[in-house]
Amino acid sequence: MIRPIEWTEEGVTLIDQKALPGTLQRITCRHYGEVIRAICDLTVRGAPAIGIAAAMGIALAVKGMPNEPPESLTVAFDRVCAEFAATRPTAVNLFWAINRMKQSFEKWRRDEHREALYDRLRKDACAILEEDIAINRRIGRQGMQLISDNAAVLTHCNAGALATGGYGTALGVIRAACEEGKRLRVFADETRPVLQGARLTAWEMMQEGIPVTIITDSMAGFVMKQGKIDLVIVGADRIAANGDTANKIGTYSLAVLARAHSIPFYVAAPLSTIDLAVADGKEIPIEERNPEEVRTLAGIPTAPSGAHVYNPAFDVTPHDYISAIITEEGIVRAPMNLGIKTLFTQ
Ligand code: MRU
Repeated sequence: MIRPIEWTEEGVTLIDQKALPGTLQRITCRHYGEVIRAICDLTVRGAPAIGIAAAMGIALAVKGMPNEPPESLTVAFDRVCAEFAATRPTAVNLFWAINRMKQSFEKWRRDEHREALYDRLRKDACAILEEDIAINRRIGRQGMQLISDNAAVLTHCNAGALATGGYGTALGVIRAACEEGKRLRVFADETRPVLQGARLTAWEMMQEGIPVTIITDSMAGFVMKQGKIDLVIVGADRIAANGDTANKIGTYSLAVLARAHSIPFYVAAPLSTIDLAVADGKEIPIEERNPEEVRTLAGIPTAPSGAHVYNPAFDVTPHDYISAIITEEGIVRAPMNLGIKTLFTQ
C-alpha cells in the first residue's frame, strides 16, 4: 500500500507529491519547520494527510526541546501548534489533529511525567496515522455498496492513499469495490491548477491496475451528457453540520453537472472532516493560493506575466447537491443535518 507519511528515527518521511508522477521520491523532515514548509508547498497534501503530518511535526518539535522548563515548554508548544494551524485554513483535519496533540500535552501536564512527553506525542501521532488507514478501510466497506459492477466513476482531485495515511477516502471506496471483484472504470478530472487528478489519482489507479481515463475539468459536463458516468465520488476538506462540503475547487461545478444529468454525487470522508462548530458552508474559510499556480503549468508560463488571477483552492458544495456522505460510521442522506448529528451520538 502507498504510505505517503512515515515516522522514522530521523524524523518525518514524506513522499514528495510535487515530484509525482515523474519521480517517486521521499524526503525526510528533521526539523518541524520542514514539515510546515512541506504542508504549505503541497509536498504533502490532502485533508487527512495534512493532519497526520502536523501531528508528527509537533512531536518532532518537542523532540527538539529537551531541556525546557515546564512554563517555557508550554509557551513553545503552543507557538509550534499555532505555526501549524497557520499553514492551510480549509481542511479541518489539520485543526482536529492539532487539538488531539494539545489534549495529549494537557494530559501529560496533569500526570506530571515530564520525561514521557516526547514519547507520548510521538506515539499519539503514529496512532493517528494507523487509525486513519483503518478508518479509510471502513469508509471503503461502507461506500462500496453504492457502486455496482461495471460502473464508471468520476472523481476530482486526489482523495486517495496519497491524501491520507494510506488507502484513501473516495479512492478507498473505489479500491474496496475493486477488491470485492467489481470491475470499475475511473474517470479522473485533471484538477487545475496543480493537477492532483492527472498527476496523483491517475498514478495511484495505474499502480493498482484500476482502469483510469483522464479528462480535463471542462470535459466533465459533456462526458456526463454522453452517458459515460454512472456516479461521482469525491473527498472533502471540511463538512459543515448541515452537510455543506468544502473540497477542491471544481467540486461544486461537478455536483451541479451531476444534478443536471441525474447522476448520484457522493462525498467520502472520515468523521474528523466534519466540523460541528460550523453551521453551514458560508462559515468555512477558503484558502487562496499563489496566483503563479494559475499563471503557469509545471513552471511554464500559460498567461501573461503579472496577469490578475483569482485562485481559491476550494469551493463549497451545498448539501442538497450531495446524494450521500459516506463515513466510517455509516452513510448519511437527507436530511443531512440530522444524519450527521446521529453519527456523533450513536
Ligand atoms: O489542495 P489539496 O491537494 O490538499 O486538496 C485536497 C482535496 O481537496 C481532497 O479532495 C481532500 O483533501 C480530500 S483527501 C481524502
